[in-house]
Amino acid sequence: MNQQSESRVATGAANTDVTATAAATASAQAAAPAPTRPTPIDDSTQAAIGVPLPHESAALHVAGEATYTDDIPELRGTLHAALGLSRHAHARIVSLDLAAVRSAPGVVAVFTAADIPGENNCGPVLHDDPIFAEDEVLYLGQPVFVVLATSHELARRAAALAKSDEVVRYEPLEAVLTATDAKARKQFVLPPLHLKRGDPAAQIAAAPHRLAGSFEVGGQEQFYLEGQIAYAIPREMDGMLVYSSTQHPSEMQQVVAHMLGWPVHSVVCECRRMGGGFGGKESQSALFACAAALAAQALRRPVKLRADRDDDFMITGKRHDAVYEYEAGFDEQGRILGTRVEIALRAGFSADLSGAVATRALCHFDNAYYLSAVDIVALACKTNTQSNTAFRGFGGPQGALVMEVLMDDIARELKLDPLDVRRANFYGIGERDTTPYGQRVADNVLAPLTDELLASSDYRARRAALLPFNAHSPVLKRGIALTPVKFGISFNVPFLNQAGALVHVYKDGSVLVNHGGTEMGQGLNTKVAQVVANEFGLPLSRVRVTATDTSKVANTSATAASTGSDLNGKAAEAAARTIRERLAALAAQQFGCTASDVSFANSAVEAAGASMPFAQLVNAAYLARVQLWSDGFYATPKVHWDAKTLTGHPFYYFAYGAAVSEVVVDTLTGEWKLLRADLLHDAGRSINPAIDIGQIEGGFIQGMGWLTTEELWWNRDGRLMTHAPSTYKIPAVNDTPAAFNVNLYHNDNAEPTVFHSKAVGEPPLLLAFSVLLAIRDAIAAAGPGMHGAPPLRAPATPEAILDALEAFAAAQQTASPTPQQPGQTNPATTSPTTEAAATPTQASTTA
Ligand code: MTE
Ligand code: HPA
Ligand code: MOS
Repeated sequence: MNQQSESRVATGAANTDVTATAAATASAQAAAPAPTRPTPIDDSTQAAIGVPLPHESAALHVAGEATYTDDIPELRGTLHAALGLSRHAHARIVSLDLAAVRSAPGVVAVFTAADIPGENNCGPVLHDDPIFAEDEVLYLGQPVFVVLATSHELARRAAALAKSDEVVRYEPLEAVLTATDAKARKQFVLPPLHLKRGDPAAQIAAAPHRLAGSFEVGGQEQFYLEGQIAYAIPREMDGMLVYSSTQHPSEMQQVVAHMLGWPVHSVVCECRRMGGGFGGKESQSALFACAAALAAQALRRPVKLRADRDDDFMITGKRHDAVYEYEAGFDEQGRILGTRVEIALRAGFSADLSGAVATRALCHFDNAYYLSAVDIVALACKTNTQSNTAFRGFGGPQGALVMEVLMDDIARELKLDPLDVRRANFYGIGERDTTPYGQRVADNVLAPLTDELLASSDYRARRAALLPFNAHSPVLKRGIALTPVKFGISFNVPFLNQAGALVHVYKDGSVLVNHGGTEMGQGLNTKVAQVVANEFGLPLSRVRVTATDTSKVANTSATAASTGSDLNGKAAEAAARTIRERLAALAAQQFGCTASDVSFANSAVEAAGASMPFAQLVNAAYLARVQLWSDGFYATPKVHWDAKTLTGHPFYYFAYGAAVSEVVVDTLTGEWKLLRADLLHDAGRSINPAIDIGQIEGGFIQGMGWLTTEELWWNRDGRLMTHAPSTYKIPAVNDTPAAFNVNLYHNDNAEPTVFHSKAVGEPPLLLAFSVLLAIRDAIAAAGPGMHGAPPLRAPATPEAILDALEAFAAAQQTASPTPQQPGQTNPATTSPTTEAAATPTQASTTA
């Protein structure tokens, strides 16, 4: 006790004593009513692992006090930037005359590619991403110049002069807009990827049943609530501080340095938090950081570039849309014997991250299923559109979706419950367990997870109940679907799987953590704080995670591939453990025991019956000249990848999940509603169930938006017409189903990840496949005599649903004189490549 009061004097850590804090608060209130400010985290909150603690900034988020880049107080002399955009999808720039822009009200300067001292490039992998177009524009919306003005509004008005022929004169060139057109011209940003195992052609030819089909899915705008923004502040001796809303501060630092022709140490990039990234700020924050930094350096003034929503839509890339052609041979149970797919992704005008996206698509075609003989081709098609980029799932959803469509096709072909076809194809345990790319699926929980979901969702009974419902409901049709997910966790570029952290323990026992990850709302900082607090036996309030800062942790990877807490949690844990071990050694000296006997809990250290407050031990360590800060580093073990053969062990482990969705479709209007969704997802041993469930709900709803309401539409000039919330529909609160049962599947990670947790950021997005296939099921119910699957494209907008209903009905009419034989595919239901699609299947039924 005596020691404790001494420590308070030495450290001033009065707030570790609850009574003292309460007394102080009471007296403060008596003196004057204290202004009520949101406390980030209640002091009594324990850091326990596995506890559903609120997001570390939750109170700030709801109070509007969380600081985003645009909230940073502006320095005197700050100028505002806006980008002048191209008017053509593909054109030669004949002349550029910026006089009118320079003389526009409030304008201070205009810069183009010619003003860039270093390289005019901000591409993450290849050097094919100009910051400003030089001689040629490659998409409609490409920045040609940046204008600096005294206000945001004046900058935008001046930038809009880019529309004038007086300012930029173009000679239009032929534009290639779609993946299909690019493929026909063999126009790719990267060479095609081709992975083959076994002899699928022979297997398909010899199979008792065959089908072929094609499918397409649209892209998706990230629609982060906070748009792209950078605030660049010049510093002495050719230095630059860039505040950037980015998932990748180290890359922003590098591209800015490269653009200025500087060494990387001259640039600091900082990001406290983003108002969402969803992949859209993994690489494409770069253009904004570079444009702001270029102007800031040229003018030696702080420059803020905040893209207006419409400009953000027009400039930045989205999820890759995809066109598929597929073929499969299968047995009576629907088990696939051989399959083939071509996935043509629209990459846009540059490579960006499309190589890794295409690779992930290729590695997720299997989804939850063993494919003994398989041929997968992934194409990154070069088009005159925005350069498509990372979006939650990173190609994984595009790879797995077509497999789920195929499962549904097979089930409809064989008149089986699609669930049974799925289960017949599940990866095995100890057999049928190697992926097409050669990694063994060692931690497979698909079967027990599905069983648990079947029971909790009452799937079988609800499916049975649909028959009488649909029989008596001529207009409204219900459908249900269960889809599973297996998602590979790790960057599929092995060297990116590394992270660093820096932990400081101050003399009062409070802890400051910096790590290489970024906070975008996903709760990474909360989880990392929990890990560090747990290491020291402290409540969360004693641990503060600061803004991501390239001057603290160097050479970080993007916060992406869902690996944020796996990587940074481990690095921070390592840093904290180093300090704890030093503290334990000192405590052991004082207690007369060994360091391994010393435990850290409840803000105290304890061993051999003796105990001392954490803060007191820290202060003693300081006086004994023990280093109270440490770095930590983590590199994911086991991962490797051979980019030539497309084989290896790209993923440390897999995350699993499954969902059951039930919808009702109005067959007259194409409107539909999600009635109930049951989600069961494997987040390993969850560090924070509240945050993980939030991620699962958010990922599912976001995936549902992609597959149903979010439609990107370019006109024939290559102008994106859906570039604002007025025409681009993301899900709203009332799209959440009335019955929304979201649960964690209890499953410790078999690998020694941080507390045996699993990454959770991206995989749940794929649970939304169940919504699309439930809609398909409802459409199928509108033609109960029909055979095969309705030709429903994604997004399944009301128009797409009506088109599918119409095509299905038309097929029914043409088929009606001769009733369909079981196993016969209706041409219209499989593929626009009708001959190829229908012939082998029909042949198989007569064989
Ligand atoms: N959750 C929120 N709220 N906001 C986001 O921008 N991005 C997603 C996911 N969840 C995102 C999110 C994406 S694309 C990824 S890769 C992961 O979070 C990244 O964070 P993590 O690795 O820490 O999970
Ligand atoms: N996910 C996200 N970003 C990436 C990946 C990935 O798998 N690989 C390389 N960059
Ligand atoms: Mo997420 S698409 O890996 O940023």
